[in-house]
Amino acid sequence: MNSQKEIVVSGIRSTGYLHLGNYFGAIRNYVKMQADYDCYFFVADYHSLTTHPKPEDLKKNVFRVLAENIASGLNPEQAVFYAQSDIPEIPELYLMLNMLAYKGELEKVPTFKDKVRQQPDNVNAGLLTYPVLMAADILIHRAVKVPVGKDQEQHLEMARNFAQRYNNRYGELFPEPQAFNFGSQLSKVMSLDGSGSKMSKSENENATIYLADSDEAIRKKIMKAKTDSGPTENNSEKPAYIQSLFDLMALISPPETLNSYDTAFNACTIRYGDMKKQMAEDMVAFVAPIREWARQLQEDEESLRTILRRGAERARESASRTISLARKGIGIQYYS
Ligand code: ADP
Ligand code: TRP
Repeated sequence: MNSQKEIVVSGIRSTGYLHLGNYFGAIRNYVKMQADYDCYFFVADYHSLTTHPKPEDLKKNVFRVLAENIASGLNPEQAVFYAQSDIPEIPELYLMLNMLAYKGELEKVPTFKDKVRQQPDNVNAGLLTYPVLMAADILIHRAVKVPVGKDQEQHLEMARNFAQRYNNRYGELFPEPQAFNFGSQLSKVMSLDGSGSKMSKSENENATIYLADSDEAIRKKIMKAKTDSGPTENNSEKPAYIQSLFDLMALISPPETLNSYDTAFNACTIRYGDMKKQMAEDMVAFVAPIREWARQLQEDEESLRTILRRGAERARESASRTISLARKGIGIQYYS
């Protein structure tokens, strides 16, 4: 690989169907970055084990994440694409970083606290050290840019802390990785039910648009999105759930369409039913080709396997270079 280019790493957990949040928060950036950076993208299958998925589901989920990435425009000839569990150097670095991560700081991570609330009977050590494994994913290639959605900001900050702690103790090895999004802000695609939560793989399923959704499912979900009877004063501020609809429209509809509804909102003439119908059609036009291509790709398992195998080889070349330096830094160098 061309070592002049900046190194990029990002992963998606194999915990279910990919949705618009994954697309706009992560994958769209992958596709835009793949030509200009040294990109390493992966399915975070180890990360998905915190919730104990059924063994018979794991492979299907991993292959689907790969297929949906390719159908969204990811080119595995250009970017390296692999399964996290194919790179043993990642858990090795994770072990080293665990010695530099403190229980107190891990317990304070908001995503950990959320999980403790959601699944009080399964607060396992993997959940607590999730940010350490994520840091290992990133630092193993000494990445500088990490395309992710806004929900991952805190995890990136922790990765920077662990990198710094290693460097301070054992000598400069890791650059400090930054979260990245084209455009100024990290993105957060909100669910359609107006609850203020984000679209996600396993919660709010009726308010999340998946890349595998049928045309009918898409229309139904959008028509059910929360609205109200419309503004009563010109140029008033949009309530959060209406703003989310406009934000979603900005992602998938032409700017003229968005502007016309914005003007109608400001003049109190907006009809949300019409807006949602328009959005539903634009959404169908956006999702259907990705869905169909992903479906076809999943029928050809052999090709997907070849991509993962080749990706793992390329990723291990980079990972093994880092891990020997990390071992050497720590002093694990007994035979030379
Ligand atoms: P999920 O949260 O849906 O299970 P992951 O945790 O595997 O998905 O996240 C994969 C990527 O998608 C991450 O970069 C994450 O920031 C991004 N992402 C997930 N949900 C959203 C969302 N609603 N808006 C923006 N980005 C998101
Ligand atoms: N933690 C990320 C999420 O839940 C997924 C992930 C795992 C990741 N390892 C990563 C993202 C490394 C970027 C880089 O969305």
